[in-house]
Amino acid sequence: DAPIRVAIAGCGVVGGGLLARLLGDPRYQVTGVLVRDPKKVRDVAAPSDLYTSDRAAFLAEKPDLLVEALSEGEAGHDLIREALQAGIDVASANKQAISRDPAGLQALADQHKALLVYSAAVGGGAPMIETLRAARQAGPVTRFEAVLNGTVNFMLDRLSAGADFADALADARVAGFAEEDPSSDLEGRDAAAKVRLLSYEAFGETPGEGTITCDVLSDAFKPNGAPVRQIGACVKSEAGLDATVLLDRELEDPLFLALRGERNALKVYGEDGRVWSCKGRGAGRWPTTESVLADVADIVRARHAALGYH
Ligand code: NDP
Ligand code: HSE
Repeated sequence: DAPIRVAIAGCGVVGGGLLARLLGDPRYQVTGVLVRDPKKVRDVAAPSDLYTSDRAAFLAEKPDLLVEALSEGEAGHDLIREALQAGIDVASANKQAISRDPAGLQALADQHKALLVYSAAVGGGAPMIETLRAARQAGPVTRFEAVLNGTVNFMLDRLSAGADFADALADARVAGFAEEDPSSDLEGRDAAAKVRLLSYEAFGETPGEGTITCDVLSDAFKPNGAPVRQIGACVKSEAGLDATVLLDRELEDPLFLALRGERNALKVYGEDGRVWSCKGRGAGRWPTTESVLADVADIVRARHAALGYH
C-alpha cells in the first residue's frame, strides 16, 4: 500500500512528538509541517524543506489527513475548516479550536465526507472522550466532574509541598505541560474549553464560553494543608447546563485526591445511577502523542473499512 499522506500543523510539544514518530514509520509520509517560523531550531530531526508557514501551500500538498496541533485556537479552527472543506480527515489536539463550535465542525466534516477526531484535546493520554461516549451509549448522562488541567494539578502539588509559585510554573512549562500562554491554564480557560467539549459529548450541547465560572490559580494561593484540586464540572438540569471550573478545597473523592503531578481523571454519572471513570497522564509530549496516534489509527481503520485512501 502507498503510505498515508499526513500534514502536521504545529511542531511544538505535541506536533514535534508526532513528527518524530511518523518520520520513523514507513506507513506514513509527512507532506509538510506548518509553523509560524520555518527557520526555528527544533528538537526533532526532520528535513528542513518540510517546514512552511504558508497555509495554502501546506494544504495544497493534498494530504489524506491533517494532524492539527497549533497553540492558537482561532488559527487552528480556521485550518480545520479549510481541511474539512477539502475533504481532508482531521485529528486535532487543540481544544480551543474544536470547542469553539464542535457541532458546526462535525456538520462540515459530514458534508464533505471527512472524518474529525479530537480525543487528545481532552485529558491528554486519559481516554476521556471515549469514556463519555461509552457512558452516553449506555444511557442518558446527568453530570460529569473532572481534573482536566495537568499544569494546574502539577502546580497545586508543588505549591502544597511548599514550592515557590514562579518555580512551579517554570517547571510545568519546561515539562511541556503548560500552554504557550499559561494564563489559559492558570485562569481556567484551558479546563473550560475541555468542559465545553465534554459537555458536547455528554449532552449534545455546549455551555456558552462566557457562562463558565472559573477560579484563578495565582501567586496569592496559600496552601493550608488540605488537598486542593481544580475541578471542571457540568450538570444538566431543566434549567440548562451549569458548568464551572473551581479550585476545590473540600474534596473527598479518592480518585481526584490520589492524582499526582500532571495526571487527569474523569467521573461521569448516568441517570440510572451508574458511574464511569478514567484517569491518565493529562499533559506532556509522549502521552499526548500516543493519543493523537491512536486517533490517526482510528481514521486509517475507518478509511480502510470503507473505501480506503488509495
Ligand atoms: P507548542 O506551543 O509547544 O507548539 C505550538 C506550535 O504551533 C508551534 O510549532 C507554533 O509554531 C505553531 N503555531 C501556533 N500558531 C500558529 C499559526 N498561526 N500558524 C502556524 N503555526 C502556528 O504547543 P503544544 O504542542 O504544547 O500544544 C499544541 C496544541 O495541543 C495546543 O492546542 C494544546 O492545547 C494542545 N495540547 C497540548 C498538550 C500538551 O501537553 N502540551 C496536551 C494536549 C493537547 P512555531 O514553533 O514556529 O512558533
Ligand atoms: N496545558 C494543558 C494542561 C495541556 O496542562 O492540561 C493538556 O491539554
